[in-house]
Amino acid sequence: MSVTAIVGAQWGDEGKGRIVDYLAQLSKMVIRFQGGDNAGHTIINEYTQKSPNGKVALHLVPSGIFNPEIQCIIGTGCVVNPQSVLDELKSLESIGVSTENLWLSERAQMVLPYHCLLDSYKEKTSSQLGTTKRGIGPSYADKMSRRGLRLGDLKRPDWLKSRLGQALDFANRELSYFGATPFDLEQLYEQCLDWGKQLGHKIVDTLPLVQQAYQLDQPILLEGQLGVMRDIDWGIYPYCTSSNPTPGYGVVGAGLPVTAVQRVVAVVKAYTTIVGHGPFVSELAKDDKVGRHLQEVGGEYGATTGRPRRCGWLDAVALAYSTWLNGFTDLAITKLDVLDGLEEVKICMGYRLPSGQVLTRFPDTLDLAPDLNHPDRRSTLEPIYESYPGWQDTKSARSWAELPETAQRYLKRIEELTQVSRGVTPRLRYISVGAERDQMFEIS
Ligand code: GDP
Ligand code: IMO
Ligand code: MG
Repeated sequence: MSVTAIVGAQWGDEGKGRIVDYLAQLSKMVIRFQGGDNAGHTIINEYTQKSPNGKVALHLVPSGIFNPEIQCIIGTGCVVNPQSVLDELKSLESIGVSTENLWLSERAQMVLPYHCLLDSYKEKTSSQLGTTKRGIGPSYADKMSRRGLRLGDLKRPDWLKSRLGQALDFANRELSYFGATPFDLEQLYEQCLDWGKQLGHKIVDTLPLVQQAYQLDQPILLEGQLGVMRDIDWGIYPYCTSSNPTPGYGVVGAGLPVTAVQRVVAVVKAYTTIVGHGPFVSELAKDDKVGRHLQEVGGEYGATTGRPRRCGWLDAVALAYSTWLNGFTDLAITKLDVLDGLEEVKICMGYRLPSGQVLTRFPDTLDLAPDLNHPDRRSTLEPIYESYPGWQDTKSARSWAELPETAQRYLKRIEELTQVSRGVTPRLRYISVGAERDQMFEIS
């Protein structure tokens, strides 16, 4: 049985979309297992050439959608804004991509307009986290409080109305705290009925589809959103998202037995980026020459919000932590080409505390000593680096042998640094040296 989870090993935006798009060519099913339209998974292939800027940033639709013969599922673990899905489907269809094989789990939670508004209001307070304001936190909070509405409710009008009434009681009370106008039940109900009409045929019990694919031994990909460092349990809480991007949750969000996952592919950017607040020890200042290089050459601007991503060197402390929590079997290193032309490249090996003590294991958020008065809640720890000679060009490489020797050394070092735990020894498997489908190769 062949189930592969593809997950972000860092703080998100590692290039999960491009890896899923590449691996989907040999798969039969792709399931997004958590998160919502806070994701921005960018894909460049022959289909996306028809879109205005030659690429497509998928927010909810799985990155396998460009392969017409495979089934794509928005899984039970997701939170789904129906309007966002409809908009995304429309824009995919406008460039000739078939969305016929896309299914939405009737058990997935909905993100409703009040969730987005609450998210925005919360971001105006002193406890702001730098969210995408897509209503992700409020929707998952409602799920856990068991007052959330699920996609399947759109197909059961009476039940929908009573659930919506109960949920609005709470939401409107919260909104009134912020001085916002309350939502009208009838209006929102009508809107939901309209979403139900447009999307209803795609909202199904996805479990039989998943079971059938698994039992027929078809290759299945589980597509994660964000990365482990933003995981609700293990990420830099509270500067994290409200779900678990780790593959442990993958089986829950998709509807598979825990024993199903055979491979876990870590998508690792050759350096680090972060969008939103939270401590980030290996961050480079905006006016730092290398920081500017990563930002501009890497095009490091959020695919969902357009915000500049904070950039820095690869963090081996975080990567080792991530490897343990995710149980990686394979490493897919992306954006190696962005480091081309740098005289030296660095890896953060430890964090020095103000006392002089050096941490080599990833600590809890407060031990990262964020300066809570800083608007970005940055870290005040000092990064300790290992330095390597740089290289000129990896863009044209299509095999291991074609990589400059210094780039090979850097990659081998990354592999070595992830092999820190007994029983969890991922191997270097995919190298990406550009955003297009053919700018990637597999090491056999
Ligand atoms: P995701 O959220 O993990 O899918 O990643 P994003 O799509 O948000 O960000 C990755 C960005 O890097 C996108 O703009 C990709 O087109 C681009 N990208 C992916 N892999 C490579 C690569 O190997 N080299 C370069 N230069 N760009 C890449
Ligand atoms: P992909 O899947 C990068 C960040 C936000 C914020 C925190 C919580 O493309 O990697 P949320 O809206 O989830 O409540 O925000 O998480 N964030 C992302 N950062 N890539 C993403 O998705 C993100 N989704 C959320 O900036 O710091
Ligand atoms: Mg992204």
